[in-house]
Amino acid sequence: MLITTAPAALYRDPAVFDRERTAVFARAWIFLGLEADLAEAGDYLAETLAGYPLVVVRDGAGTLRGFHNVCRHRAGPLVEGAKGSCGGELVCRYHGWRYTLDGRLRSATDFGPADGFDPRAFGLHAVAVQAWRGLVFVNLDADAAPLAETLAPVDRLLGDRAFPTNVALRRSHPIDCNWKVYVENYLEGYHIDRIHPSLAAEVETGRYAVRMEGQVAIHEVPANAGAAEGLWAWIWPNLALNLYRNVLIIEPMRPDGPGRTRLDYIYLHDPKTEGLEAAVATSERLTDEDRWICQRVQENLNAGVYDQGALSARHENGLRWFQARVMAALAGPRNPGAAAAPAAAVG
Ligand code: FES
Ligand SMILES: [Fe+2]
Repeated sequence: MLITTAPAALYRDPAVFDRERTAVFARAWIFLGLEADLAEAGDYLAETLAGYPLVVVRDGAGTLRGFHNVCRHRAGPLVEGAKGSCGGELVCRYHGWRYTLDGRLRSATDFGPADGFDPRAFGLHAVAVQAWRGLVFVNLDADAAPLAETLAPVDRLLGDRAFPTNVALRRSHPIDCNWKVYVENYLEGYHIDRIHPSLAAEVETGRYAVRMEGQVAIHEVPANAGAAEGLWAWIWPNLALNLYRNVLIIEPMRPDGPGRTRLDYIYLHDPKTEGLEAAVATSERLTDEDRWICQRVQENLNAGVYDQGALSARHENGLRWFQARVMAALAGPRNPGAAAAPAAAVG
């Protein structure tokens, strides 16, 4: 039976994107940053993920705590910038309400007398935080299964092979396409011959395979003689981990509205080994090539002529899996839980 693609509206309708924020991104483990940036009490990382401004901080007991970066007074931000130290408390930038590092309202600074005001009801909205191999993930769903369950297939592939830990560089690539256009391009090797001719010369594209395990899509392609072995894993809904020649490239594919995606690459490298420059150059070239085709596809989706196409069973099983997951999430019960009424820290 012919497998059709998802309809074009899924890639350009702002209402679909709004629904994806709650149905996809508020219900999955999303990569936020590196645990190495949270070494001391008060260190924080902040990021806006699918339109949710979030902050993760290490508290005085050493526990990672996650919150919406949204003050309970009138929605001011608690921290600015991607990382830093907030000292012993989170102080809103707007009117100075002060919160403990576990999210309780310590002081509604100079608020004045107010009948019925109970500070215990104004703790920060909390999100779940877990770390895995030095990578910090957040989940807006308080009932989420442990992160380790999601990543078990990657652990099995890695075995006792450790990730490099030295941050060699970070690169951001804005791309004018819906996040799913970029993800779907990542999930198939069908385009390699035409879009990435230099990669096509290195690998046996005819034997390129994507296999799914749980929430992970694992890419497998035999390398021609001389090419190095790598690991290419993609984790629902928007993270790729590429381990290649002693360089780990962490590739979050971050939606930035319905028509924009930002790749925030982090390159980790073991400084005792060679290969960083070559890995960066290859990655930059492939990203430029993918950006070009993804932006052209988005323009064509926006033009309003194309609605649905067909997926190749030979090459595009990863897309079939991904599109089914997206559509199941969109069709699922509307759960206001994580997004509309997040758990507040109380106590
Ligand atoms: S918005 Fe935070 S103190 Fe007013
Ligand atoms: Fe590509």
